This record gives sequence, C-alpha cells and structure tokens, in this order.
Amino acid sequence: MKTIITVALVFTLLLTTSIIMGGNTHDEEQEHGYKNTYSRQLDVAPVSNITYAEECGSCHFAYQPGLLPEKSWIKIMTDLENHFDENAELDADLQKELTDYLVQNSADKSNYKRSKRIMRALGKSDAPLRITKTLYFVRKHDEIPYRIVKNNKDIGSFSNCTACHSNAEKGSYNEHDVKIPGYGRWED
Ligand code: HEC
Ligand code: HEC
Repeated sequence: MKTIITVALVFTLLLTTSIIMGGNTHDEEQEHGYKNTYSRQLDVAPVSNITYAEECGSCHFAYQPGLLPEKSWIKIMTDLENHFDENAELDADLQKELTDYLVQNSADKSNYKRSKRIMRALGKSDAPLRITKTLYFVRKHDEIPYRIVKNNKDIGSFSNCTACHSNAEKGSYNEHDVKIPGYGRWED
C-alpha cells in the first residue's frame, strides 16, 4: 500500500512540475522562502512532502496545507489521538516534522489564490478543524444538494474532495474539472 501511495505521489509531483514548467511561472517563492515553485494556474500548492502524503493520506485524501490556517493545523496536530473518532497518533518526531510542514505551508503563508480566499473569509481568531467548515468552502458548495453526497457510496461526505475534483491531487479545484459520481459534470 505504501509503495502504491509513494509511486502515485511521485507521479503527481512530476506531473505538477511539468504543468508548472509549461505554464506561466512566477518566482515569488524566493522572497518568502518557500521551496515550491508558485503557479498562478493552481488553486493551492500541491503536497510536496512524501511523509505527509503517506501518513496523512492513508485514511483520506492528503489535504493540501494551504486549505487551512496555521492555527487549525496546530489544533489538529496536537490532538491526533482524538481525530474525528479515529486514533491517528504519530510518534513525537513524526508529529513535529509534519506539524512544521503544515505550518510552513498553511493558508496564511500561501500566495495561492484559494488559500488567500479561504483566509479572507475567516475571522482573525477562527481555527476550524475542518476545511469543509470554513466559510469559503461552505459558500462554494452550498448549491450541491446534500442528498447526492450523503447517499452516494462513491462520495460519502464533502471531506472526500477527490470524489468530485478529478485534479485535486495536483492542487487544482477548477470548477470545470468537477465530475460528481452518478450525477455527472457540474453545470453552474
Ligand atoms: C486513522 C485514519 C486517519 C488518519 C491516519 C488521518 N486522518 Fe484525518 N480524518 C480521518 C477521518 C475519519 C476524518 C473525518 C472524515 C469525514 O468526516 O468524512 C478525518 C478528517 C480530517 C480533516 C477534516 C476534513 C474536512 O472535513 O474538512 C483534516 C483536515 C484531517 N483529517 C487532517 C489529517 C492530517 C493532517 C493527518 C495526518 C497527521 C490525518 N488527517 C490522518 C481519519 C484519519
Ligand atoms: C460532491 C462533490 C464535491 C466534493 C466532495 C467537493 N467538492 Fe469542491 N466543488 C464542487 C463543485 C460542484 C464546485 C463548483 C461550485 C460552483 O462554483 O458552482 C466546487 C468548487 C470548489 C472550489 C472552488 C473552485 C472554483 O473554481 O471556484 C474549491 C476550492 C473546492 N471546491 C475545494 C474542495 C475541497 C478542498 C474539497 C474537499 C475538502 C471539495 N471541494 C469537495 C464539488 C465538490
């Protein structure tokens, strides 16, 4: 299983790199000390840490750090024992490494457009535990009837981003790439 995840991630990283290289790139990273190349075409920075992809991608999609503010990630990472009714506890070193990665790449430190919009819609002290509870997310998904999510075995919940966003792993949530299983392409 781990091998499959690693291979899939490496593939995604290569694909993303080629998208970034092919598109218009912008090197705002230098001034902020980011490691990744910034792309105006992507909604959030793709996951760039293989350990994160493996550890936090084993039960669900490895959510990009740029989908939540630093405060949220710290809350999540300091209570992994009680993680949405699951135990997702990590050993201390790993927990620190992944917290650092999430904090350094959190929405409040990102230049990507969706990260900025997520932050703009949040109150200063807001630290939701879920991306799906952020005001930005709720607004973007409020036209989708809950029954087509809940009663659909291929989706199950709004937390399952990849069920509808075919390019979510690359950091792209473009509404034109949305395909809802059993429902089809989303026409606004
Ligand atoms: C043992 C399984 C498991 C592991 C490992 C795990 N999670 Fe989760 N996570 C869950 C479950 C279950 C949910 C709730 C999903 C739902 O409501 O559909 C969840 C939800 C989340 C959400 C909220 C998604 C939303 O609704 O917006 C975030 C953020 C999250 N996890 C981050 C992480 C991070 C970071 C890690 C790695 C440190 C991690 N998870 C590892 C089981 C896990
Ligand atoms: C049931 C299918 C479904 C799931 C699950 C889902 N989305 Fe969406 N999402 C949509 C649809 C449909 C739209 C387009 C809404 C519109 O603008 O009409 C959208 C829009 C978005 C947008 C805005 C894109 C744009 O171009 O305006 C973002 C960002 C986004 N989703 C992120 C997420 C994330 C992150 C998750 C998982 C935590 C997720 N979505 C889960 C269906 C889904």
